[in-house]
Amino acid sequence: MLDIARDFPILTNYNKDGHLIYADSAATTQKPQCVLDALTEWYTVRNANPHRGTYKLGALATDIYEYAREVVAEHIHGKKQEVVFCRNTTEAINLVARCFVEPMLREGDEIVIPISEHHSNVLPWQELARKHKCRLVYLLTDQRGRLLESEIRQKITPKTCFVAVAQVSNVLGTCFPVKEITRRAHEMGAYVLADCAQGFLHCGVDVEEMGVDFAAFSAHKAFGPDGVGVLWGRYELLKQMPPYNLGGEMVDQVSWRKAVYEKPPLRFEAGTQNASGAFAFSVAIRYIQQLGQKAIREHEAALTAQLLEGIREIPGLRIYGNPDPAEDRCGIVSFNFVGQSSLLVGRYLDAQGINVRSGTHCAQPLLAYLGVGSACRISLAPYNTADDVDCIIRALKGGPEMIARTVLRRTK
Ligand code: ALA
Repeated sequence: MLDIARDFPILTNYNKDGHLIYADSAATTQKPQCVLDALTEWYTVRNANPHRGTYKLGALATDIYEYAREVVAEHIHGKKQEVVFCRNTTEAINLVARCFVEPMLREGDEIVIPISEHHSNVLPWQELARKHKCRLVYLLTDQRGRLLESEIRQKITPKTCFVAVAQVSNVLGTCFPVKEITRRAHEMGAYVLADCAQGFLHCGVDVEEMGVDFAAFSAHKAFGPDGVGVLWGRYELLKQMPPYNLGGEMVDQVSWRKAVYEKPPLRFEAGTQNASGAFAFSVAIRYIQQLGQKAIREHEAALTAQLLEGIREIPGLRIYGNPDPAEDRCGIVSFNFVGQSSLLVGRYLDAQGINVRSGTHCAQPLLAYLGVGSACRISLAPYNTADDVDCIIRALKGGPEMIARTVLRRTK
């Protein structure tokens, strides 16, 4: 098992005086010291605007920014010129929707997404479908949160022009069969984007192996800083796409009436970029590589099994998605106590130092499909320990009555 909590100052700082069990890593991960040091290093000795100044410091900033691109590319088995830095997964998906999918849409075309997608992988497609009289088709999950082959075959058809699918559901924790979905989509002549926001840290991303056309992820969900994300796309597709934003450094030549844009990836990086963020993300990736993807996967699988085994028999507790740890899933577990508000359960857990997210998790179509208004979500990361999971299980065993009593006492 990994033992890395001490690398994360926020965890050790809190635990000096109190107790913090951070179990909301699907929302954002905590940051290791090496990433905090990288941000300080950038602003202490590296700061200049990449791709602008030709003085030594400017050239160094360019080299480091481009080195960060190489680190990302090598980590996901892509090519350097296929890695576009952007703000986050949301922006990457919007970029593909507007610059790749919209120009090719014809009335009656179908865009396919699973019902469980995060709003950032629903709304851009909903909007395109409405605007161009296309159909947004939902792949429905089964009772256990899985996408079955029959559903994939039935819904991805010659009418499909684009499929967008999460590598891992941010509510159910299910790892979706991206490779199989992509194979079917390509057979039907459609293109595929994988939303890897929840998979990047926990499962790893290998764009060659997945076979997708585009992949999107955010640094902050993988030990990196906020405000930097990546769109990876096949170069031959990026090359044919118009720019997303217009402005500085995405252009090669500008005359009074027209412009010649840069080649990708710079074509999609208008204006000053989050260079410190890109650098710090490359350091986060090196940290992940040191831990090892296999070790991360095994550590989280063990914690997830412990959690599911500890809570699935609690009376009144209903888990959404697959309660079987042997299934292909990550350490995201959403649940409710029957008849109990998820917000109150979240407050009860917070009172015991356990941070979870309660609400709709930016996945309202899924919650409507499940017939629930909101849910509590535990999401684990490599810095969580077996003791953390024990505490969560003990707290939840307290059951709905204790939750109601504790919350009432606190609000009196
Ligand atoms: N997308 C993040 C989550 O699922 C914010 O919590």
